[in-house]
Amino acid sequence: MNVVVRIMKWTMVVTATSLALASHAAGNAEAGAAQAATCAACHGQDGATAIDPSYPNLAGQGAKYLHRQLQMFQSGERDVPLMTAQLIGKSDQDLQDLAAYYASLPAKIGEAKGSDGEIKSARMIYKGGIAVKGVAACASCHGPGGLGNDQAGFPRIGGQSVDYTIAQLTAYREGRRASDEAFGAMMRNVAAGLSDGQIADLADYIRGLQP
Ligand code: HEC
Ligand code: HEC
Repeated sequence: MNVVVRIMKWTMVVTATSLALASHAAGNAEAGAAQAATCAACHGQDGATAIDPSYPNLAGQGAKYLHRQLQMFQSGERDVPLMTAQLIGKSDQDLQDLAAYYASLPAKIGEAKGSDGEIKSARMIYKGGIAVKGVAACASCHGPGGLGNDQAGFPRIGGQSVDYTIAQLTAYREGRRASDEAFGAMMRNVAAGLSDGQIADLADYIRGLQP
């Protein structure tokens, strides 16, 4: 199956799934804010000024995506003990509220720092993929400005910390992050065709995407 057909099939499956889940109770951002003091110690007061450059920005991320990641940290399906420990004793409503809170904060906008050549090669992959390696265009799911599509389950990636994006793409490639199981290992398949250099160029380009 070619990559475009595969994406179309997944988009249909995902749309059907999100319709089925649309009745899910929504989170309450104010209740989330009340719980977020411990999170701010690492992710920053504004959700976008983490204490370590390898920690992700959460501000403006899609609520569905955030909620699903928090559930997977809690269950260990996304295996990050440091995050699992933050969620002990939290109910699913607590996770929904935290997700709603971070989704409501303004997202961070960044700047690419690479050379013209690095930015150009990243842009080509981002917009066009790498056909010979089966790498699908990032923009087809994450959007030209990196905003993602929360209904479809595609996270916002624009403006994200470079070190975090590098770590995630590498973890997908090596199969250490398998939280895309519900999406047919979509991101592991995409990352499988990327070299370290391409991952680094993409991470820099993605930080500079403008919504
Ligand atoms: C001790 C530091 C620390 C604390 C406290 C912390 N986090 Fe995290 N968080 C991290 C790190 C590190 C990661 C990246 C994990 C990885 O490598 O995948 C992360 C990842 C996340 C992600 C995944 C983001 C994405 O784009 O996939 C979410 C969501 C998140 N944290 C929410 C929270 C919430 C909500 C709280 C408070 C209940 C919290 N964190 C507290 C360090 C922390
Ligand atoms: C077919 C759709 C699709 C394509 C194409 C795609 N992605 Fe993704 N991406 C996803 C989905 C779905 C997730 C969330 C998976 C999960 O929960 O682990 C994701 C997650 C990510 C994440 C992790 C975000 C976070 O906050 O932790 C990064 C980074 C990322 N993608 C970058 C890329 C790049 C770079 C490309 C192009 C080389 C790309 N993606 C192509 C669907 C896609």
